[in-house]
Amino acid sequence: MILEAKDIQQNWVQFMAHIDSHVQGDRKQKLIEFYEKYQERIMLMPASHKKEYHNAFPGGYVEHVNRVVTCALKLYDLWAEMGADMSTFTKEELVFSAVNHDLGKIGDESEEAYTPQTDNWRKEKLGENYMFNTKLPFASVPDRGLYMLQSHGIQYSFNEMVAIQTHDGLYDEGNKKYLMTYLPEQKPRTSLPFILHQADLMAARIEFEREWLPKLKGDKNSLDSTKKNFTLGNSTKGSTAPAAKSKALGSIKSEGLKNMLDNL
Ligand SMILES: [Fe+2]
Repeated sequence: MILEAKDIQQNWVQFMAHIDSHVQGDRKQKLIEFYEKYQERIMLMPASHKKEYHNAFPGGYVEHVNRVVTCALKLYDLWAEMGADMSTFTKEELVFSAVNHDLGKIGDESEEAYTPQTDNWRKEKLGENYMFNTKLPFASVPDRGLYMLQSHGIQYSFNEMVAIQTHDGLYDEGNKKYLMTYLPEQKPRTSLPFILHQADLMAARIEFEREWLPKLKGDKNSLDSTKKNFTLGNSTKGSTAPAAKSKALGSIKSEGLKNMLDNL
């Protein structure tokens, strides 16, 4: 799948609007400044490095996170309707956790986690459109995301920490200590981790279906990836979010991203 420039920009505006609408207090401005600082990197990032995984295309990260936030808000209503105790966490905690759940995928202050694949064999045979940046020391995605928040002075609550840490549910063995305990006193005290995990699962599954079901059915049109116009216009009109900078993707500073866009 290829997103057009206007979609990439609209998704960024929507992403910032989630923060603007739901995050309160001192950390709101810090979070906005954090995302503006890394805007260029984040708005073009894929959600994963391999095409068999979900949203492995430019702009895939923000598109995925927006879907997780939307799913999380709908699941919030469902859990409330079905009788879950919604007094144990806030909607702000849910949206903050959803917005930042995959933040560790950006890398750190100086190094991007994903760079465009330079090995054509791996790209064509293995579908690896991106490769991990080996200059980056290893950390799990949740650990790096939480590190990035704290290193930029953005506070998170205990509930948010557990939700971000366990958002992969039992797909990550390390989460068993939170999610597979049989002792009541060790179980999570809120449904927040389960709602975030469900939202992430739902979003990734939908992204897989969109990308792969037409291909598996042999739909030739789904294999066609035409080159798109990457000149960004200003689509911030009517939004309450901070204005996204209007810019042409041709002005991107990152060498890796330039190469990647040239190959589209
Ligand atoms: Fe995710």
